[in-house]
Amino acid sequence: MIIVKSPREIGLIREAARVVAVALEEIREYIVPGVSTQALNDKIDEIVRREGAFPGELGYYGYPASVCASVNECILHGIPSKKKILHDGDIITLDLVAKKDGYCGDAARTYCVGICGERQKRMIAIAEECFYNAMSLVKPGVRVGDISHAIEETAKKHGCSVPREYTGHGIGRDMHEDPSIPCYGKPGTGPELREGMTICVEPMILEGKPNVRVLGDGWTVLAKDGKLTSHYENTLVVTADGCEILSKL
Ligand code: MF3
Ligand code: CO
Repeated sequence: MIIVKSPREIGLIREAARVVAVALEEIREYIVPGVSTQALNDKIDEIVRREGAFPGELGYYGYPASVCASVNECILHGIPSKKKILHDGDIITLDLVAKKDGYCGDAARTYCVGICGERQKRMIAIAEECFYNAMSLVKPGVRVGDISHAIEETAKKHGCSVPREYTGHGIGRDMHEDPSIPCYGKPGTGPELREGMTICVEPMILEGKPNVRVLGDGWTVLAKDGKLTSHYENTLVVTADGCEILSKL
């Protein structure tokens, strides 16, 4: 069931999303060669709690950390670890949910570690371009399939692909609410957007083939072909004539 939010609820989601935005900006200076993904997790956890929020991913279906930290061919749900050390030229995605006063905000960014090559920078730019192309369509009356299609077409234009198994989503009291917002789709299909809906649009991009595999830990999702991946996500509110990004400073 799709829930349209009241102005009061949108205010609370806005605040949770602001905490995510603050954390994803403040963490930038810590993303350097030699740091472990555990250290980034701990810093993010500290920032989120300092802002009066709680890391919403911690304990979610048993997820064991405060943020998802996914490096290079890892597209989703990388579990932070002391043993996972970042190297010059890696790319890392941090995907974070903050929960505050009962409401969630959710965003993801892919960052360069040290000095990245053109191949890495291109992947980061494509995920962002997919997001903005999709976002530019968001307004009341637009269908989810329109948004999904824009993501898929932008990825394809660059010779990239999108996963079938993981999607964007509505957000509110729960981090994942209806509707689900795939990264591929047919224009004119799916639920219609309405003013007051809060949604997460999150292009996940594969440099190569769309196939993924999940590691034995039950979480870590990798590109099967071992090529690069990237991800860009924001929490949006649908307004009378468009939308507003809530998870960006
Ligand atoms: N933050 C992710 C999303 O964008 C969900 C992570 S689920 C977790 O939807 F369990 F790994 F935390
Ligand atoms: Co999300």
